[in-house]
Amino acid sequence: MRVSGKSILVTGAGGGIGEGIARRLAAEGARVMVNDIDGAKALHVTTEINAGGGMASAFAADVTQSKEVKALVAETVKLHGRLDVVINNAGWTHRNRPALEVSEADFDKVYAINVKSIYLATIHATPVFRSQGGGSFINIASTAGLRPRPGLTWYNGSKGAVITTSKSLAAELGPDNIRVNCINPVFNPDTGLSAEFAGGPLNDERRAKFLASIPLGRFSTALDVANAALYLASDEAAFISGVCIEVDGARCV
Ligand SMILES: NC(=O)c1ccc[n+]([C@@H]2O[C@H](COP(=O)([O-])OP(=O)(O)OC[C@H]3O[C@@H](n4cnc5c(N)ncnc54)[C@H](O)[C@@H]3O)[C@@H](O)[C@H]2O)c1
Repeated sequence: MRVSGKSILVTGAGGGIGEGIARRLAAEGARVMVNDIDGAKALHVTTEINAGGGMASAFAADVTQSKEVKALVAETVKLHGRLDVVINNAGWTHRNRPALEVSEADFDKVYAINVKSIYLATIHATPVFRSQGGGSFINIASTAGLRPRPGLTWYNGSKGAVITTSKSLAAELGPDNIRVNCINPVFNPDTGLSAEFAGGPLNDERRAKFLASIPLGRFSTALDVANAALYLASDEAAFISGVCIEVDGARCV
């Protein structure tokens, strides 16, 4: 068991990549707090993890709201007695379309869910980490933040902000024994956001266009990302901070 007994909070874990991360970490012995804005989805994942012998709890909270993130962190500490890892996974994108056609409301929503969430998690979890002598943040960014392509401009920029912010925090919080790392997944067609990334239902033409850019010849899965998160959350990564792991089949080369 690679994260046995660790208290790990995963945001946006009611589905998609976050659900995969929560399940994988629970299977490796973590006590997992499954957060989602949709409480029913978080509860479903939690129920399945517990039925399979894992340890999970659900907490509905909107990661863009300071009071709710504060309550989420407090509830995790109350239930588990401590907090070892926060995985900022919740994310959202505007539909793939020309930059000038994205509404101001959608721009604000992208930055609130993808970037402000990192600010709020940092504000509320860092004091807990400091009081315990350390901790670890894992932020799910994207290959979009590293190798941007047309159509997702404002989303790409938000993920660039996640990457730079994570590196800056790694430098700033390192003296407190707090590690900050990113994971950059490439396209995963099996999540709630895939049609938005693709600009519509994933037909053969769109699928082929995406696949052609990935040297290993397949898309990423939630398990691929979860395995990287498992490593970064474990003590095997005790000296790893300020890095971004591309989980992308060499897409960014
Ligand atoms: N799917 C991909 O191709 C891909 C590629 C690279 C990076 N990512 C990133 O991976 C992360 C997970 O995305 P996904 O593809 O699994 O998406 P998803 O839509 O399947 O899952 C996201 C989850 O976050 C929850 N959520 C949304 N807003 C929230 C909020 N304000 N507070 C709390 N929870 C909220 C949703 O209810 C949902 O359960 C995101 O950060 C995304 O940008 C995804």
